[in-house]
Amino acid sequence: MSTSIELDGVAVLRQGRKVLDEVSLRVPAGAILSVLGSSGSGKTTLLRVVAGFVRPQSGVVRIGDALVSEPGRIVIAPEEREIAMVFQDLALWPHLTVHGNLAFGLAGRNVTRAEREDRIAAILARVGLSAKERRHPGELSGGERQRVAIARALVLDPRAVLLDEPLSNLDVGLKQELLSFFRELLGERKATALYVTHDPREAQALGDHTAVLDEGRIVHLGSLDGLRSRTDLPFARQILQALA
Ligand SMILES: Nc1ncnc2c1ncn2[C@@H]1O[C@H](COP(=O)(O)OP(=O)(O)O)[C@@H](O)[C@H]1O
Ligand SMILES: [Mg+2]
Repeated sequence: MSTSIELDGVAVLRQGRKVLDEVSLRVPAGAILSVLGSSGSGKTTLLRVVAGFVRPQSGVVRIGDALVSEPGRIVIAPEEREIAMVFQDLALWPHLTVHGNLAFGLAGRNVTRAEREDRIAAILARVGLSAKERRHPGELSGGERQRVAIARALVLDPRAVLLDEPLSNLDVGLKQELLSFFRELLGERKATALYVTHDPREAQALGDHTAVLDEGRIVHLGSLDGLRSRTDLPFARQILQALA
């Protein structure tokens, strides 16, 4: 069951510097928000705040109706948030098979063996990897590994999915193909998702809306086309050029 995500006035300080500065945003249940920002703008930190690994100094985070984080305090622990992450380096277990990677996250959950096997079989069929479930990550192509990574997140039936530049290491053709596929997968499951990237084309292709992050601040929220009127933003032109 997907859920809304809301941040209100979130600030994260690191070594006296504001890595996130008064970040407020809301992702309705079932919507995809892309977050566009250059390296170091705070994208990963933002996802870690939502996942519950970073405790903001100020501001609150809500997941659905629940207050999960308040100033200086994690109210609901990461493992209880039922949120799945897809990491930039994918972080697949190299010593486990595709099946093993998917089963790992389900272990210790209240899921019977039969249900676990059904869920793994269903998602592997959906991402086209049924025939490769006994392979190890090292025996897969780059695109196949990306599909294992998203399957591993979705098999948990999470309330939201956080994706941290999962496609940045792929060549252009494959990236395009996987972008459409990810969008389709998230859409059919009505998954709430936050998708962070430094690539304006990815942000536009994936997100229903986009938040532009600059040095820890959201400087634009809405469609990237809306940047046309933002002559105050020095990089707006650069983003629009990348989309042209
Ligand atoms: N644990 C930390 N300690 C100190 N600085 C950090 C820490 N985590 C992130 N930062 C700094 O915060 C800024 C934003 O980092 P990050 O969220 O990883 O950005 P992005 O994912 O957009 O590249 C960077 O300048 C980074 O060096
Ligand atoms: Mg990052």
